[in-house]
Amino acid sequence: MKLKTMVNCDISNNTVLLRTDYNVPVIDGKITDDFRIRTSLDTIRYLLEKNAKILIMTHRGRPKGQYNEEFSLDLVRDALSVALDAQVTLIKDVRETGLKKRINDAEAGSLFLFENMRFYAGEKKDDVELAKEFAALADIYINDGFAVCHRAHMSVHALPLMMKSRCAGLLLENEIEHLSLLTDKPKKPYVFIVGGSKVSTKLDVLKNTIKYADTVLIGGGLAFTFLKAYGFEIGQSLLEEDMITHCKDIFAQAKEYNTNIILPIDALAGKSLDDNTPRVVSRSNMLSDDIGLDIGPMTVEIFKGAINNASTIVWNGPMGMFEHAQYQTGTIEIAKAVRESTKKGAFSVAGGGDSVAALNQLGHDDAVSFISTGGGAMLEMLSGLELPGISVLKEE
Ligand code: 3PG
Repeated sequence: MKLKTMVNCDISNNTVLLRTDYNVPVIDGKITDDFRIRTSLDTIRYLLEKNAKILIMTHRGRPKGQYNEEFSLDLVRDALSVALDAQVTLIKDVRETGLKKRINDAEAGSLFLFENMRFYAGEKKDDVELAKEFAALADIYINDGFAVCHRAHMSVHALPLMMKSRCAGLLLENEIEHLSLLTDKPKKPYVFIVGGSKVSTKLDVLKNTIKYADTVLIGGGLAFTFLKAYGFEIGQSLLEEDMITHCKDIFAQAKEYNTNIILPIDALAGKSLDDNTPRVVSRSNMLSDDIGLDIGPMTVEIFKGAINNASTIVWNGPMGMFEHAQYQTGTIEIAKAVRESTKKGAFSVAGGGDSVAALNQLGHDDAVSFISTGGGAMLEMLSGLELPGISVLKEE
């Protein structure tokens, strides 16, 4: 896929509307993971070198089309200002009186950040009238928010279509370059590790990935719906009843493509999340009140064997409830195995908020060759879907 990139855009001394994804986790008034901010800085610095005025647009959380203090970008503005050692001015509203003149009068290299784009009702509606108001402020549109490219929202879709000059930023280029390697003749053996809680959110990516992967390792809460589909007793473990038929379809398709699906053979189970005496249970011996909360030691060994032989590895989703100390082992062991395999030369990619948070929290963020900033966007890309935010940047 050929994209318009910044080198083909006449940026010098122009005003740029830059879409980023600063949808960062915030706990008790603090940003707990600034990965998406850090990875956007190269593009901003490049634009500053070109003496551009930069108008940044991003969202955070899911406010419902109106102002909501909880999702204000004050914290993001502060973090960005510290990271760039520069003043960043928050623009509360695109309809502010005199805004166009303020921007025109600002010095080259000035940085502005629009308040949360999802405070506008027109953002999620991909509203053309709202897009016109933003388009009137700048010469060029750049998208560097890979993580939001699967949303056909105004600042991702209608707005760039309206701008004569539009292109991808460095982060977006980098994401596409790395993720394309996974669907464009990936090196074999290819191992896809999937975890997290819900089959429903991983269904499309699983259906597409079994076409390319040699082995699919299924851990996390979603493994229990697969185990149930296989006829195992799963006690009180996470179950999506309506996904059982889909799980069976996936087994059937995997057979067609000669892809090996490996499910956990044991689990670390408790009677509740606070149970301090979890025990290892084989998948054939789960009791009706057991809750599977991590993969067990035998599963870890089997998964490690597959990872050890891999040349390409993709990891999306933790193996258990890693936020709780007693259920971290599976995820930690898999991170170690991925790191070993990567050191030996495998190309490895991790993505999805939870997997990245797990890698960071466990101090294993050096375990993979590439960490994607995308959650849903990465999954959609690996599902073979066209992302609206990327389609609009294709070279004609
Ligand atoms: C993400 O965090 O995956 C993106 O920012 C998209 O957020 P959304 O799922 O709320 O659209």
